[in-house]
Amino acid sequence: MSFLTYLECSKCGKRYDAAKVQTVCDVCGKPLFARYDLDAVGDAVSRKDLVCREASMWRYWELLPVRDKRNKVSLGEGWTPLIPVRRLGEAVGLPDLMVKDEGIIPTGTFKSRGLAIAVSKAKELGIKRLALPSAGNAAGAMSAYGARAGMESYVFMPVDAPKVNAVECQVVGAKVILVRGLITDCGKFVSDGIDEMDWFPLSTLKEPYRVEGKKTMGIEVAEQMDWKLPDVIIYPTGGGTGIIGMWKAFDEMEHLGWIGSERPRMVSVQAEGCAPIIRAYNEGREESTYWEGADTLAAGLRVPKAIGDFLILRAVRESGGTALAVGDEEIMEAVRLTAQKEGLFACPEGAATLAALKKMLNQGQVDKGENVVLFNTGSGLKYTELFHVDAPIVDPGQKLDYKSL
Ligand SMILES: Cc1ncc(COP(=O)(O)O)c(C=O)c1O
Ligand SMILES: [Zn+2]
Repeated sequence: MSFLTYLECSKCGKRYDAAKVQTVCDVCGKPLFARYDLDAVGDAVSRKDLVCREASMWRYWELLPVRDKRNKVSLGEGWTPLIPVRRLGEAVGLPDLMVKDEGIIPTGTFKSRGLAIAVSKAKELGIKRLALPSAGNAAGAMSAYGARAGMESYVFMPVDAPKVNAVECQVVGAKVILVRGLITDCGKFVSDGIDEMDWFPLSTLKEPYRVEGKKTMGIEVAEQMDWKLPDVIIYPTGGGTGIIGMWKAFDEMEHLGWIGSERPRMVSVQAEGCAPIIRAYNEGREESTYWEGADTLAAGLRVPKAIGDFLILRAVRESGGTALAVGDEEIMEAVRLTAQKEGLFACPEGAATLAALKKMLNQGQVDKGENVVLFNTGSGLKYTELFHVDAPIVDPGQKLDYKSL
């Protein structure tokens, strides 16, 4: 069973009833966090009990907000591999490198975790129609789980989002609207349509439960490393729920006695063409400001202003981590290096973490002997438009000069 008790504003602490549909805090407009009766969770489940559970994120059922198992809407997401990548690590000068590979998850990105939970909880709360502004991948995930739950889905995404995102939404029956603008422009269409369309928006951190799915990445890393967290976690940041969710999971696990008080240094990576979090970090601010003219080929990182910015910055600073931006060329180079050294075709957002690691090694911000986990947040197979095929074309029966191939 779930031990969800109430929702709490992540900024001012005001409490909200978790049995009702909630969005953000009505006092300060900030995200709400799900709170659990952690003492009761501790009595009900131990680390050992987890061992024989299902190989998905639902193995942490007690720490998830869905109360009735009949409301679980799942395609088997989570429990992704934590892969030692020694050849890649040696190439960049850090042999103990690992990649948590979210590319093998249903719908191809980590967005499935958050949206499986959000759609399940929406089902539990009686919601029938969903809407989402999305950089692309979240739309695909919401549409898939929405279809599985028998709900209607409306997605608004930038017209330059990867084509596969519109395809994956339409094929499962979602209504797709392409916006000549950014995710923030998409968000305006969604909020303006609420009264007329009676839809429930599942926008990042504007509903309380997507982050609960994302937090399972942090629990999984702990369990997969035998409850000893790595020295450094490097994560690509758009809306920021990945970092925020993992940071929340660490506190919950410490309360349960599953881990100690040590934390990895959390590193937030953005693209140079859209780096509001990095700018705020460097200027010592608690919140970011809108990034004008956001432009990067890493579509998931094209988020000019995140509602959870203060939570990302807090996690980065409290952990002693850092925030840094990488260029699109460095990102594509990192995609190629990861693929060629390990056979792992990362998405550009995921590869940005390798580009960031290289910079950190150069600047002495990571020690060669440290334990580093990079998050590949999705599959490169969703981004084939970014690549040209350079291959000879031959006809059947043609005489080939094999050595010249
Ligand atoms: C593949 C991928 N990685 C990373 C991100 C950024 O994630 P978050 O919004 O949780 O910071 C996105 C967001 O769209 C994404 O699609
Ligand atoms: Zn508040």
